[in-house]
Amino acid sequence: RGVPVDADAILSWYGAVRRDLPWRRTTDPYRILVSEVMLQQTQVARVVPYYEAFLERFPDEVALGSAPTADVLRLWSGLGYNRRALALQACARAVARDGWPRAAEGLRALPGIGPYTAAAVASFAFGEQVAAVDTNVRRVIERVDRAHRTPRPLAARAAELLPAGRAADWNQAMMELGATVCTARSPGCDACPVTGCRSRGRPLPPPPARRARG
Ligand code: ADE
Repeated sequence: RGVPVDADAILSWYGAVRRDLPWRRTTDPYRILVSEVMLQQTQVARVVPYYEAFLERFPDEVALGSAPTADVLRLWSGLGYNRRALALQACARAVARDGWPRAAEGLRALPGIGPYTAAAVASFAFGEQVAAVDTNVRRVIERVDRAHRTPRPLAARAAELLPAGRAADWNQAMMELGATVCTARSPGCDACPVTGCRSRGRPLPPPPARRARG
């Protein structure tokens, strides 16, 4: 059903264009979780200063878990969706008490953590070989194969594409591709490293509404 995809070409492209973002310099699960929760509904450029201020005030899960919630919300203020901050603090308390689940399945049991965020933290912090599918990655896969899929077949296709041993870079690469080239509104097919894409030059519109995130 899916087209053959040259994973090495995508990884090489990512190596060449990779933006040096603060959460790409760490494998600390706490720092990665903070970044992924902030990035759930907010653009990268907007997140960076909040991320840095937040980590300065709450450098680890113990600091965040024991802080007054009013302080947490004050540092979050401007990012919006305050429920994310409350869930993040609840996560911090849980992992400060019980330790970090080291696989996506365990991470999913934490407050406010869906399949995307669980897979992102598991692959970036713990090296689990699991595909993280956010809205951007979903769009890339759907355009490449020129097929919209329901969540289970989409997850299966994402897992099939994952190059062995490269989950962390692969997940970042696919996100970067969706965020900077295979954009929702004006995809830059000329700059795209995917050679066999079925939508090259005639981009598949994103499906109406409904998003895979977590
Ligand atoms: N959006 C969600 N997660 C991201 C990440 N790790 N890097 C850049 N953009 C993202």
